[in-house]
Amino acid sequence: MIKLFAANWKMHKTQAEARQTVEDLLRLSAVDLPVGREVLVIPPFTALSATAAGLAGAERYHLGAQNFYPADHGAFTGEVSPAMIRDAGASFALTGHSERRHVLGESDSFVGQKTSFGLAAGLKVILCVGEKIEEREASKLAEVLTRQISLGLADVPKNIAPETLSVAYEPVWAIGTGLVAGPAEILEAHALVRALLEDVFGSVAREMRILYGGSVKPDNASEIIALDNVDGVLVGGASLKADDFSRIVLA
Ligand code: 13P
Repeated sequence: MIKLFAANWKMHKTQAEARQTVEDLLRLSAVDLPVGREVLVIPPFTALSATAAGLAGAERYHLGAQNFYPADHGAFTGEVSPAMIRDAGASFALTGHSERRHVLGESDSFVGQKTSFGLAAGLKVILCVGEKIEEREASKLAEVLTRQISLGLADVPKNIAPETLSVAYEPVWAIGTGLVAGPAEILEAHALVRALLEDVFGSVAREMRILYGGSVKPDNASEIIALDNVDGVLVGGASLKADDFSRIVLA
């Protein structure tokens, strides 16, 4: 399976900064990008076009959006449709990122609505899941992942092409905290995600990517990416500097 190295820039970077960062990233990583890897850059909406221009022509480097609204168009002030982000050059999008669930109040079923709508609209969707620290301490990992995945995929057709759907496991307590999940924790959660995907899609689920996110850095990326059922990483803070992120994609 081709491993995906994704940079989630969250609410960072102007157009000029985005353009500079991808130019630096390509200079530092494009020639040496190992076979079997691809890169995804996920800037804020306002920098999608500038990032697309910076990535133009770079093979195995893709553009994604952090969010979208599940409608083609209409009276949804402040929202952006899948067609609009595709028009800006993006082919991927995230759904269910923990900050949208826990800071902006998105429910499991709304995340599910977005996931199926985005796929139907031709986006490759990365559904993000993960438990809060109090849920982990209460031994609710399996319960949380089962709920987030079953509601997140409730309306997704069973026959979708496996490369169009990925799941990112991002334990909330590891996001932006410097507390990376250990190998045993990642292995357990990813095996569970794989089993849940197989329950929904059958054996084709083995071809769907499962990414890990949460304090991935240049010095821990190679260990994480080598683990069973880890088909990529979703990187926040360490993706903002081309130097750090290039060391992750080459790790
Ligand atoms: P950090 O890499 O900053 O922990 O963020 C992870 C994340 O939320 C990526 O989507």
